[in-house]
Amino acid sequence: MNDIVLEARGIVKRYGHVTAVAGADFDLRAGEILAVIGDNGAGKSSLIKVLSGDVVPDAGEVLLDGKPVHFKSPHDAQLAGIETVYQDLAMAPALDIATNLFLGREIRRKGPLGSVLRMLDVKEMRAQSRQQMDALGITTLQSITQPVDSLSGGQRQTVAVARAAAFGRRVVIMDEPTAALGVRESKGVLDLIRRIRDTGIPVVLISHDMPAVFEVADRIHIHRLGRRACVVRPGDHEMNEVVGIMTGALPPPAAAEAS
Ligand SMILES: Nc1ncnc2c1ncn2[C@@H]1O[C@H](COP(=O)(O)OP(=O)(O)O)[C@@H](O)[C@H]1O
Ligand SMILES: [Mg+2]
Repeated sequence: MNDIVLEARGIVKRYGHVTAVAGADFDLRAGEILAVIGDNGAGKSSLIKVLSGDVVPDAGEVLLDGKPVHFKSPHDAQLAGIETVYQDLAMAPALDIATNLFLGREIRRKGPLGSVLRMLDVKEMRAQSRQQMDALGITTLQSITQPVDSLSGGQRQTVAVARAAAFGRRVVIMDEPTAALGVRESKGVLDLIRRIRDTGIPVVLISHDMPAVFEVADRIHIHRLGRRACVVRPGDHEMNEVVGIMTGALPPPAAAEAS
């Protein structure tokens, strides 16, 4: 119990007559990459939106470091140290990498230039961006002053992940980060996810990419019909078993750990 960083119990979220999340539990442990898998419509994104403050659940509770939290917006979750990379990445393509890293959290110049004239401290943001890229071992971005619309899909994803890693003090959540990427680009993003975990920040990885899940995940949360069916370790199960559980063709293993 004491190594659980982010936890959810009995989460329910309805949209009209559709129950997107039907009493779901969730546990993310310190130091792990937790994959969340499930069929389309299983309620993965809805559950993750509850954890990231994007959606307020109809029932259930969320705990961070064992304490109940009540996020009313993504900003609330961000203040608590939870950063989410959404599928659409939420970037400003015309602006450069450094500016995108600090989007919505810009550093202002010191004194009245910043406080009155709202002038940005571009130098400081660029310096910190370079530092962040170095810390994560990112070598695929040539210049921090490059506009984001000049980057490849994988590079954009790298910027989005680096941004989440920079501000995610407790948890980084990623919804399908490799869905639009080629093999090499995916590998780069998966390496980055490992490095984030290795810096001590646990990562939630929602993904359809089974080989990627089996490659990087420490544990796999299998979501089915709006709730967690079970959690398995990739070493204990074949990929086709896991897919079978996910689709309902196979029952969840009796001995599967509940959390
Ligand atoms: N904003 C919404 N309005 C209405 N229905 C929604 C909304 N978001 C999700 N749903 C429905 O909730 C169910 C779960 O969706 P979702 O959480 O996106 O699943 P997943 O990410 O596993 O594909 C689906 O039936 C979906 O159509
Ligand atoms: Mg989804």
